[in-house]
Amino acid sequence: MKIFLDTANIKEIKDAVDIGIIDGVTTNPSLIAKEQGCDFKEVIKEICGIVNGPVSAEVIALDWENMVKEGRELAKLNNHVVVKIPFTRDGVKATSILAADGINVNVTLVFSPNQALLAAKAGAAYISPFAGRLDDIGHDGLEVVQQCQDIVSAYDYDTEIIAASIRTTTHVLDCALMGIDIATIPYGVLMQMFKHPLTDIGIEKFLSDWKKTQQ
Ligand code: G3P
Repeated sequence: MKIFLDTANIKEIKDAVDIGIIDGVTTNPSLIAKEQGCDFKEVIKEICGIVNGPVSAEVIALDWENMVKEGRELAKLNNHVVVKIPFTRDGVKATSILAADGINVNVTLVFSPNQALLAAKAGAAYISPFAGRLDDIGHDGLEVVQQCQDIVSAYDYDTEIIAASIRTTTHVLDCALMGIDIATIPYGVLMQMFKHPLTDIGIEKFLSDWKKTQQ
């Protein structure tokens, strides 16, 4: 499974990329807003310089003409840029147009497998179902992610599923066990994945035993 980092924080991205386990980055307007005072396009360019993989940058327009216009401008920033477009009728139309131009699109705010089917047919390179936000309203978010994955895999669409709105290490584990193409993970969740108390206890014990051999 590919691991993307779901953040626009340069420090977090540098730190995780440095470990050598990050395949890409996703941002959205809320994540950009958290990085106070940053210039959106400059941040995207900077992220592209750090990550050797796709970097999603989201359009703000809601009508297809301006989505296409913004998408083309974002795609010019760097060849790592993936244009992120919200799933709406206009969004699907803009996706078809941008995909025909050879621009990679990540269709976001997907909450049902039928939405994923339409995004795949429009030529989306990536489709992002939101697990956590479905869980928030009492649905099974990961079941929807799995259904989206099953549809694109069954018909061999040239599309990868990105499990988004990942909140816990259990979400990540379930995605990996289900064979989801990509999980985009907040930095905090990624850091939790490193931790296991038995690893810490094991290191302590190895070191104390080693010290005994040096006396
Ligand atoms: O990848 C989408 C993500 O940023 C949304 O996460 O936690 O706001 O639902 P959340």
